[in-house]
Amino acid sequence: MRALVVDPGAPGGLRFGEAPEPEAGPQQVLVECRHLALNFGDVNGARNRPPGFVPGWDSSGVVVLASAGGAGPATGARVVTTMGSQGGWAERRAVDLDELAVVPGEIDLAAAATLPVAGVTALRALRRSGALLGRRVLITGAAGGVGRFAVQLAALGGAHVIASVGSETRGTGLRELGANDVVVGLEGVTAPLHVVLDNVGGPQLVGIWPLLAEGGVVQCIGTASQQAATFTSLVGMRRTIEAFTKGPHSGEDIAYLLGLMQAGKLQVDIGWRGSWSRAGEAVDALLGRRVAGKAVLDVD
Ligand SMILES: NC(=O)c1ccc[n+]([C@@H]2O[C@H](COP(=O)([O-])OP(=O)(O)OC[C@H]3O[C@@H](n4cnc5c(N)ncnc54)[C@H](OP(=O)(O)O)[C@@H]3O)[C@@H](O)[C@H]2O)c1
Repeated sequence: MRALVVDPGAPGGLRFGEAPEPEAGPQQVLVECRHLALNFGDVNGARNRPPGFVPGWDSSGVVVLASAGGAGPATGARVVTTMGSQGGWAERRAVDLDELAVVPGEIDLAAAATLPVAGVTALRALRRSGALLGRRVLITGAAGGVGRFAVQLAALGGAHVIASVGSETRGTGLRELGANDVVVGLEGVTAPLHVVLDNVGGPQLVGIWPLLAEGGVVQCIGTASQQAATFTSLVGMRRTIEAFTKGPHSGEDIAYLLGLMQAGKLQVDIGWRGSWSRAGEAVDALLGRRVAGKAVLDVD
């Protein structure tokens, strides 16, 4: 079957190649992929993989073979899926039953593809941070995939949301998603911050530390800046920096996010969409910080 494979000489480091047909295990279904959603992590991680490697986590499509035991969705069901390991940017994939959710008929399959890594990360990072009602929550990298979901979910949780972006133009649309304040970097951000979801890392993370409230927490989700964070002192009042990881078993949380979409409470912004033959362009746009929200490839 066709797949996107790593090729350092190709645009965006990806080209079409061949991958072996997946075989579904007893607790898996076989899914024909219709849409692939890119994440910073799988795209950036692909750069460190050998030529021929098939990267990729998130996809939506249709079940072409139900699980052997009959558990999970039936053949023909529309599903959104994620893979615990890479290897998913291919025509078909075998997916664990607890890493998928059935997509309701009224929800666009392409939009659903964006939920697993970015949406579930935002959801779980906020849950790790405790009750949000009346809390001042800073979200960095707010214009990106995780960021846009985090802004909306924090607002739903009752927080005062401060969305931090890299430039003024990247802040477009974030107030409409629920941000109370939109800032460039940490410009004008004042203490106390109760919760920070940090997607950027580097010197900006260091700058966040003195703005934390007593008992405040930073969830270190990512280092999109790819810069080191050097702290001269972490002593003082009680504050926490937590290394966050999304973890497995995403199905239930993806289903919850689909429910929010159905209720009109969660919007998916697809900032780049095109054929998977244009994967290189999509990768360059994502890593070049030109995608507002998610990049989605159509498997055609
Ligand atoms: N720990 C986990 O389980 C987990 C799960 C998911 C994602 N992640 C990580 O979380 C991060 C965000 O992921 P994503 O999928 O949302 O990525 P994304 O869609 O590419 O968004 C990344 C955001 O980071 C900002 N950014 C990039 N370089 C920057 C720099 N040098 N200085 C300031 N801001 C910069 C960009 O801001 P502007 O657009 O404003 O320029 C962009 O909006 C990544 O590092 C990813 O690997 C971790």
